[in-house]
Amino acid sequence: MRLSDRIRSVAPSATLAVDALVRKARAEGVDVVGFGTGEPDFDTPEHIKEAARAALREGRTKYTPSAGTMELRQAICADLARRGLSYTPEEVIAATGAKQVLYNAFQVLLNPGDEVLIPAPYWVSYVEMVRLAGGVAVIVPGAETDGFVPPAEALAERCGPRTRAVIVNSPSNPTGELWPRELLQAVGELAVERDLVILSDEIYDRLVYDGVQPVSVAALAPEFRARTLVVNGVSKTYAMTGWRIGYGAGPAPLIQAMASLQSHSTSNPNSIAQAAAVAALTGPQEVVEAMRREFETRRNLMVEGLNRLPGVVCRRPPGAFYAFPNVQKLLGRKTGGETVTDSTSLARFLLEATRVAVVPGIAFGVEGYLRLSYATSRERIAEGLKRLGEALTILDSA
Ligand SMILES: Cc1ncc(COP(=O)(O)O)c(C=O)c1O
Repeated sequence: MRLSDRIRSVAPSATLAVDALVRKARAEGVDVVGFGTGEPDFDTPEHIKEAARAALREGRTKYTPSAGTMELRQAICADLARRGLSYTPEEVIAATGAKQVLYNAFQVLLNPGDEVLIPAPYWVSYVEMVRLAGGVAVIVPGAETDGFVPPAEALAERCGPRTRAVIVNSPSNPTGELWPRELLQAVGELAVERDLVILSDEIYDRLVYDGVQPVSVAALAPEFRARTLVVNGVSKTYAMTGWRIGYGAGPAPLIQAMASLQSHSTSNPNSIAQAAAVAALTGPQEVVEAMRREFETRRNLMVEGLNRLPGVVCRRPPGAFYAFPNVQKLLGRKTGGETVTDSTSLARFLLEATRVAVVPGIAFGVEGYLRLSYATSRERIAEGLKRLGEALTILDSA
């Protein structure tokens, strides 16, 4: 089959590939500890499921407006208001996950050859989505010592005549780090000066620890808000990854363009899932707090456990549900005659030797790190850490 150049240039999602390996091993009866997956292990709270059942009973099974029901867009506005962000329903689009919001945005913003600044380590899909839109991803690395966020000067330096947009992802996947306010301010100023759109992916902003308060770049100044697309959704906050509801809020012309594109691709996101998302956003928020607290305990277990492993150093990330340890000291070591040369071979070794699934840092654009999701039970985290400790002994003694 002759496929388009467009799709042949796209790399499949490395994180979904790890998920697939784990599923396959489990189907074969192998007991794998999965630190690969990027979704909460909790079930969707009951009142949200009940709202979906009610929507079915009421026959809400028809097309809705492409950008989502008015009820959902109003609930999204109220959700944004909780963060100090004021939007009207005309400035909001609901889509099939935050993923579709971002995909739409790149499609309507980029002409062939337009550039997007992507800080590294980055979430795997940004680069491929930019490529699918005919754009060019310009990677701007951040140092571990700075919490992996890119220096403002580096963003300015990489900004050229073709730069159209810059990505902000705070808290970050894969690092769990937050962008400091001063950096957000600098990005806003750069965007105003160079006429950039800021794509602010805030999907993990309710999963934060140690009392930190995330801030949206759009909340810092009206001129920043005027060129920002705030991206969020219910997947991570409400344990609703499978329901596929995300949202974008931004300038009305951008939202209208995205809605127009969506009207010719998927049309509205699933009508029952939209009703469930309304219940999530407008219903009791204690469920979120309970999950957040559990994630914080697990974060502590994971980070402390990782730092006890010889050759592993891990920062204590204040958000999301990922640890991103530095494993550079493990590279170059041998196992059964084979040398672990990079994060990919290390991840393969860990899966084969101890049945622990992790994602290699290179999938996020940086070598010498691994990403471990702690969205799994405390028992599984303890078991996984124990196995990792054993694996490192094999590495050391080889
Ligand atoms: C940084 C980031 N943005 C967006 C998404 C997509 O979320 P959704 O499930 O709403 O499409 C993810 C999911 O892994 C993510 O990690």
